[in-house]
Amino acid sequence: MSTVRGRKIVVGVTGGVAAYKAAELVRLLGKAGAEVHVVLSEGGARFVTAVTFQALSGNPVWTDLWDARMPNNMAHINLGRDADAILVAPATADFIARLAHGMADDLLSTLCLARDVPLIVAPAMNRQMWEAPPTRRNVEAIRADGVTVFGPAAGEQACGEVGMGRMLEAEELLEQLEGFFVPKRLAGRKVVMTAGPTFEAIDPVRGITNISSGKMGYALARACAQAGAEVVLVSGAVALPVPAGVQRVLATSALQMRTAVLEALPGADVFIGVAAVADYRPLETAEHKLKKSGDTLTLTLTPNPDILAEVAARPDAPFCVGFAAESRDLDAYAEGKRRNKRLPMLVGNLVSDGMGGDDNTVIVYDDAGRHPLPRAAKAEVAQGIVEHLAGLLAAAGR
Ligand code: CTP
Repeated sequence: MSTVRGRKIVVGVTGGVAAYKAAELVRLLGKAGAEVHVVLSEGGARFVTAVTFQALSGNPVWTDLWDARMPNNMAHINLGRDADAILVAPATADFIARLAHGMADDLLSTLCLARDVPLIVAPAMNRQMWEAPPTRRNVEAIRADGVTVFGPAAGEQACGEVGMGRMLEAEELLEQLEGFFVPKRLAGRKVVMTAGPTFEAIDPVRGITNISSGKMGYALARACAQAGAEVVLVSGAVALPVPAGVQRVLATSALQMRTAVLEALPGADVFIGVAAVADYRPLETAEHKLKKSGDTLTLTLTPNPDILAEVAARPDAPFCVGFAAESRDLDAYAEGKRRNKRLPMLVGNLVSDGMGGDDNTVIVYDDAGRHPLPRAAKAEVAQGIVEHLAGLLAAAGR
């Protein structure tokens, strides 16, 4: 379940071309279960009309400080009163400047000044405006005032230039807002994890791999980052976007994955092995493409290092979490793996319940026994795993 469900979010829209993305953001917020109220600045209304936002939010849109629709004529107070957050997207350079100086000359700026709820801005502007010293000073000033800043991102801009200042996409803003409301139970922790499949080369174009989609690992990386952890995600080849706030390191083979993990490990409080690491690799990788012949082909495989077991056996081992995807006898195999690798926690699932899909049913195993989590979307399962992990870390005094 999205953390924005049931929350009242005021979306402020100021005058930038990225206002078109705000329309999609409002739609996504509504779909995720938030109650959305849009406040449109005069400039914002030049890009997207109030009618669009009213249709998408299902609520009246507010633009005018002197709007007589509020019984007490105090839209600037009432709108923010029981809101969970105000998110200004796009926030122009001018709006940020006015925010930094406490100006209150229209409904949105007055609402922001009169609020006692969290304020988040998603800047959108040309790269030179973003880099200009006054903007730098103003962004620092609003941060110091406790305003949260989402983005901006680098990329192609409406003006044709390429650089920093592009507003985050609507999906990214929703993801960051969802993260904003997650309790920061892993704050100050560094988590290193693996995810996805490995690929063990036979020749330059062929290899041995598996059907791991990486979805569970990526969902868990996102959940850890949303819970406030610094996350390094060592990932096999998957076609998934990097979750916000996660540092991803790509690794193809088990040996590359091991090297990347060992490099990322210093300072880690937690290591989570979600990757489906190939247990074996071809003893030799052919330099050139193998040519077919009528004969049978025999490949000699050699064992790969067990990354998780190696990390868990270190004298300075972080808190280690394993995963086990089994096709039968889940309890016996999962608990066996946990004990063999000396893991305080392991997450098990039946492949029939999770592999490749968007939902998963998992059981968490620890020293206290087995703890089934309800079947849910992988994002939600990941939150449950993080909750359990945070509880064990706290109980272990780590
Ligand atoms: N793992 C690892 N390095 C490996 C193999 C597995 O880090 N070379 C990690 C996985 O990321 C996962 C756990 O170990 O967290 C899985 O344990 P394992 O017993 O290796 O699972 P399988 O490879 O599925 O074992 P088996 O094939 O024997 O069922």
